[in-house]
Amino acid sequence: MTKKIVLAYSGGLDTSVAVNILQKEYGYEVYCMTADLGNLPDSQDIVRRGLESGAVEVELIDAKADFLQHFVLPALKANALYQNKYPLATALARPLIAQMLIEKANQIGANAIAHGCTGKGNDQVRFDVSLQTLKPDVEIIATGRENNMTREEVIVYANKNNIPLPPIKSSPYSTDENIWGRSIECGDLEDPWIAPPEEIYEWTKPINETPMQGEEIEIEFKNGEPVSLNKQKIDTISMVQQLNDIAGKHGIGRIDMVEDRIVGIKSREIYESPAAIVLLQAHKSLESITLTRKQIELKEFIDNEYGKMIYDGLWFSSHHINLASYINSTQEHVNGTVRLKLWHGSVIVNGIKSDESLYDPKLATYGDDDDFDQSIAKGFIAIWGMPLKTQAKKQKHTEKKEFNRKSYLNN
Ligand code: ARG
Repeated sequence: MTKKIVLAYSGGLDTSVAVNILQKEYGYEVYCMTADLGNLPDSQDIVRRGLESGAVEVELIDAKADFLQHFVLPALKANALYQNKYPLATALARPLIAQMLIEKANQIGANAIAHGCTGKGNDQVRFDVSLQTLKPDVEIIATGRENNMTREEVIVYANKNNIPLPPIKSSPYSTDENIWGRSIECGDLEDPWIAPPEEIYEWTKPINETPMQGEEIEIEFKNGEPVSLNKQKIDTISMVQQLNDIAGKHGIGRIDMVEDRIVGIKSREIYESPAAIVLLQAHKSLESITLTRKQIELKEFIDNEYGKMIYDGLWFSSHHINLASYINSTQEHVNGTVRLKLWHGSVIVNGIKSDESLYDPKLATYGDDDDFDQSIAKGFIAIWGMPLKTQAKKQKHTEKKEFNRKSYLNN
């Protein structure tokens, strides 16, 4: 009986070549699995190309709803950004794809899984760690890592073996996209001194083509999840798709950064994530009025840890479950509406409201309605500052050089 393997298939050149190699050189019957997580190019074409490359089957699964519900929304509640910038679209997709690959493998009785990742990136780590966690005895073949072919060699191999080349002329960039964002790397972008050429962007307008007037939108959240856009209740897929369109038109969501990969390499990455940038900003603003200072401070730390957990490929870990239970417990009162202006590449928060807001105008005001008894502040400060006053008297630390402006000027 021929051995079976399930391949994470994108329809691109590299994974099409992988089908062929797995079949001819490794002797596998290749089952392709393509996850539709949004913004997939022509699906009929993907199936046809997979079959022409030698697969026995190409299964395309629409997993957008799953992706948003179980991966993107938890990340949004955690305000998840890697290194304060990247909304993690590619990273979030990997554990879901791994889960789908394992399901397929179990269904057809395969023990081997393949993906096209190279040996230098994050995605190999995310796939392999997730696959091994979900099915500890799985056999993994990372074709990009094992064959280590250059772009030219891949094209030569494809031509020699009658593998159909993708319709669009092959670009020097490597891209990955799903509904939460687009990732672009390679080519000229490898030099961080070179500004990204306009041609790499597909979802966002350059600032000089954005509407002069800008646009105001309203997003309502329930338990930290966005539920309506401009007062219309909508499902999460439509919410994210519409925000990608609207915010992209205003040039929002372009991110250019040098990031630290899991494997220790610094790399220059460009992202387009219009909806993510809008939703993350709106969500965080709503938290500013519905959580206390203590909650905000600890949550910022946990949020950051959650973002790293996603980036580092540790989705199926107990660490994740622990972090998520804290994050979920903070979202019960994150209910309310945020009004945002999208304008020339910026998201400006113009209004926030919540029935459970902790913002008390009677406490905050300097006007006539003031409810705050200012005389009580004096006693508070006496106690708050007492340790410092005691220390100043006993240890004279305020006389140290660090606090002496004049000694800085002299040395
Ligand atoms: N650096 C990003 C990440 O690790 C994106 C990787 C994107 N992959 C690609 N083929 N362009 O999540």
